[in-house]
Amino acid sequence: MKRVAILISGGGSNMARLVESMTGAHPARPVLVASNDPAAAGLDRAAALGVPTAAVDHRDFRGDRAAFEAALLAPLLAARPDIICLAGFMRILTPGFVHRFAGRMLNIHPSLLPRYTGLQTHARALAAGDGEAGCTVHLVTPVLDVGPILGQARVPVLPDDTPDTLAARVLAAEHRLYPAVLRRFAEGDRARLDL
Ligand code: GAR
Repeated sequence: MKRVAILISGGGSNMARLVESMTGAHPARPVLVASNDPAAAGLDRAAALGVPTAAVDHRDFRGDRAAFEAALLAPLLAARPDIICLAGFMRILTPGFVHRFAGRMLNIHPSLLPRYTGLQTHARALAAGDGEAGCTVHLVTPVLDVGPILGQARVPVLPDDTPDTLAARVLAAEHRLYPAVLRRFAEGDRARLDL
């Protein structure tokens, strides 16, 4: 059984979908949900789902990323994860942290990478006049949002879309994509999934 730790910063809707997917014949189980924000709603959600939680407030480290990561590593290593899923985790990780989990740290990003790395992906897709949008699950490498792609899900952009309506449609696609990719990844299948 593969052990999965999930890092969040906010509501944790992707985290909840991942946790809920890991039952029965699924080859993985959730062992920790950790957040850089002690007030993240996803922490309560994880606890309600029966998953151990940890919070390491990045603001306590005043911009010292390495010190923040050292503190985050303590509960993370104690949980002995085989796989780490970033699920709405909004801190940039240092190369040292990324290398430690090379090839076994996944991220979900709300765009069809390589388009729109970084933030405000939906507003940028609308401004570009894109006819479709979507989300990507990829392996994390030291360059932000640029690791090998494990899967993508596409949704249409509709004429009256605002960044919020498009974000909601993409988030629903994230909820389909991430559990499907995690399951395949935990089974050892690295082939790209397109939904
Ligand atoms: C999701 O849309 C995720 O793709 C995005 O944050 C949201 C988290 O929602 N992640 C990023 O933008 C990463 N750069 P959730 O907390 O409800 O899962």
